[in-house]
Amino acid sequence: MKGLENTQMEELLKESSVNKQSGLSGVGLALVGVTGGAAVALSIIAAPFVTPALRKVCLPFVPATSQQVRNVLIGLKGRSGRLVDLGSGDGRIVVAAACQAQLKAVGVELNPWLVWYSRWAAWRAGVAASTSFVTRDLWRLDLRDYQNIVIFGVEEMMLNLESKLSQELTQDSLVIACRFPLPSWKPAATIGHGLDSVWLYYRPPEATQQTKEAPELLKSYSYKAR
Ligand SMILES: C[S@@+](CC[C@H](N)C(=O)[O-])C[C@H]1O[C@@H](n2cnc3c(N)ncnc32)[C@H](O)[C@@H]1O
Repeated sequence: MKGLENTQMEELLKESSVNKQSGLSGVGLALVGVTGGAAVALSIIAAPFVTPALRKVCLPFVPATSQQVRNVLIGLKGRSGRLVDLGSGDGRIVVAAACQAQLKAVGVELNPWLVWYSRWAAWRAGVAASTSFVTRDLWRLDLRDYQNIVIFGVEEMMLNLESKLSQELTQDSLVIACRFPLPSWKPAATIGHGLDSVWLYYRPPEATQQTKEAPELLKSYSYKAR
């Protein structure tokens, strides 16, 4: 009788330890699942911000300062036609150009999260109808359709951009380069100082010559010759 009780007792103990073990591994599995899922979700969100660093030329997301945006808007005074911001980030230049220069404006951006954010920002600013944002490599965009081209790039890409512009820019189109100037084109005007500087260019007949004069309004902003 005692032997039977002992065996029953042992079985009960075994059962309870199995239950305990399976309970623990359930919590553990849930934790692994949650942390693993969070890690995957974070990687998916972060990847578009990190991958520019893996490209031949790294062009990271650094938004324009408010002063830089104001300088771009000064450069756009009196302009018409379509504008493109090459690498449009969170869309601030596109939205400002649509709101304040009343231009049809397009943002081209590799990072899909920034593209979605920009669409939302444009909708919030009431310019969803006059703006659009595409997830695309700026080097694959044909610039012939645009009369106003804005770029906040990095120094290493400006020479390649200059040759793309030489091939695709139409005669009266305006290029506004933020923070880094084009290496060999002469600017028609320079607006602002230091990190907020923007340079205005028209297409020269040859890449090293500048023929077009800046509009009268902008001449007063031109404070240095390169
Ligand atoms: C310096 S930020 C400028 C953002 C915005 N134009 C502004 O002034 O606030 C450059 C942007 O270009 C994007 N970018 C980098 N390489 C690109 C490429 N090949 N094509 C399109 N966008 C690119 C980056 O994701 C980043 O948002």
